[in-house]
Amino acid sequence: MNPHQYIETFTKLQIHHTKISQLHMRQLFERDANRFAIFSLQAPHIFLDYAKNRIVPDTLQLLLKFAENINLSEHIEALFSGKHVNVTEHKPALHTALRDPNDAPLYIDGINIKDNIRDALGMMRYFVSELHKGLWKGYNGEAVKDVIHLGIGGSHLGPMMGVQALGHVFHSKWQGKCHFVSGLDATELDELLKDLNPNTTLFIIASKTFTTQETLINAQRARKWISDAASGKDITNHFVGITAQIENAVSWGIPKSHIFPLWDWVGGRYSLWSSMGLPIAIMIGMDQFQALLAGATDMDEHFRHTAFAENMPVILALLSFWYIVFFKSSAHAVLPYDHRLRALPHYLQQLSMESNGKSVQCNGTSVNMPTAPVLFGGKGTEGQHSFYQLLLQGTHLIPCDFIATLRHHGPETKQPLLLSHCLAQSRALMLGKTKQEVIASLLKQGYTEKNAKKCAPHRVIIGNQPSNTLIISTLTPQTLGALIALYEHKTFVEGILWSINSFDQYGVELGKELAEDIKQRLIENDETLKFDASTEGLLAYCKQHSY
Ligand code: F6P
Repeated sequence: MNPHQYIETFTKLQIHHTKISQLHMRQLFERDANRFAIFSLQAPHIFLDYAKNRIVPDTLQLLLKFAENINLSEHIEALFSGKHVNVTEHKPALHTALRDPNDAPLYIDGINIKDNIRDALGMMRYFVSELHKGLWKGYNGEAVKDVIHLGIGGSHLGPMMGVQALGHVFHSKWQGKCHFVSGLDATELDELLKDLNPNTTLFIIASKTFTTQETLINAQRARKWISDAASGKDITNHFVGITAQIENAVSWGIPKSHIFPLWDWVGGRYSLWSSMGLPIAIMIGMDQFQALLAGATDMDEHFRHTAFAENMPVILALLSFWYIVFFKSSAHAVLPYDHRLRALPHYLQQLSMESNGKSVQCNGTSVNMPTAPVLFGGKGTEGQHSFYQLLLQGTHLIPCDFIATLRHHGPETKQPLLLSHCLAQSRALMLGKTKQEVIASLLKQGYTEKNAKKCAPHRVIIGNQPSNTLIISTLTPQTLGALIALYEHKTFVEGILWSINSFDQYGVELGKELAEDIKQRLIENDETLKFDASTEGLLAYCKQHSY
């Protein structure tokens, strides 16, 4: 990166922002009837309209110039070719290799990882087949009917979201069910176990490190539940593991033949394409799981080989960068108008906020601009009855991603009402409603001039709230794969724009350490450990109230 060019382009963006930031998108649409044609593009499986953004063609040119000045192409090649893009942990981030159908070898530390990936997929295929044929039996010799996936974070959100999105429609022939438990609260597992039969229940213990407290405690509870019921019979078949730490899983008691491997060169929040996707493969079958991988590969090819002006992940990242750094926006909403994508915002929270919720650059110096926003969202139209009021009349600039599918599965393939709401909401956010329009509509409703003017300020909607609309023809393994890969690459580009490492997560360790000390006080009453007055006060309160 040439520092002079960086500063020059960044300064030009600042000047440009001052010039256009007060323009309303109504004006931009009035000025240029071609906005939709100019600011829309087709990528594999996904169409993007980004015309409802506070940009003009010059904005995009400057942002694209900025992307070139930071040598984005080199960073993209480094990602795909296995360079140590995870600079603080000195590791590659090769989630793209997990879904790459190309047999060309890719060596990491002298090992062709394509062999490992192929072997792991083969192991998944065999296991899924045994399960589907009813040949995987519990301690009573009965076929497994329920699978409970125990994991948290990237070891939970990806498989859970994938099963929720695809499990009902692309259901394999297997009549069984997949369930997910992630939390430490014993209630979550307990409520599920009440309805299940131990001799036909299998647990997947999913943890890349095989040290995560929540997952291991749930695994202990699960093992007790099975062994209490099995009364001495062999319970080996009730547990399989997914982990990069094979030895930890073996010492826990899972035989090596029951352990699906992960690797250090894939981040947890990028791992659903690996063995971590086992619940998805169980629910939709291995052929459809391979289709999920293929959809992601289609987006990988687009990302790796498309000019930035037509590159969907790059465009989405540049737009985010524009709002966060120049408009100082600090939130981003993901609004899927498809029931089966209801977990997508939750999944993207970890992907984006754990990847780019950073304040130190790769070179160890503090960032000099705002980084990842608070990502939130929820399926439409429910959000319209909860947080959209803030989007429409609040005081925050919050870019929104609307995601719509044209054909749904089930009785009503086309759902024009749902699609209408999706398109209407992005229009409402852009247009707003002026004082004149409000008064005119109140007069039509019979308000007097005086009352209409009095009520008007409360009903004005400023508008000018930016949004992207992504259109998917229908939710399939391919289109879901492409959608997730799109956001993975958007997240990666944002990290490069901020010059931060998107692949570590040191921040999450502190809370875990402090919890250990507080647990000592709560359980062992260890008074040698002293805390701040608030924590001491809370501990005293808990004790006073017979904790
Ligand atoms: O939240 C911290 C984190 O390490 C995530 O990055 C990871 O996905 C999650 O915890 C679970 O970790 P593991 O897969 O090792 O149990």
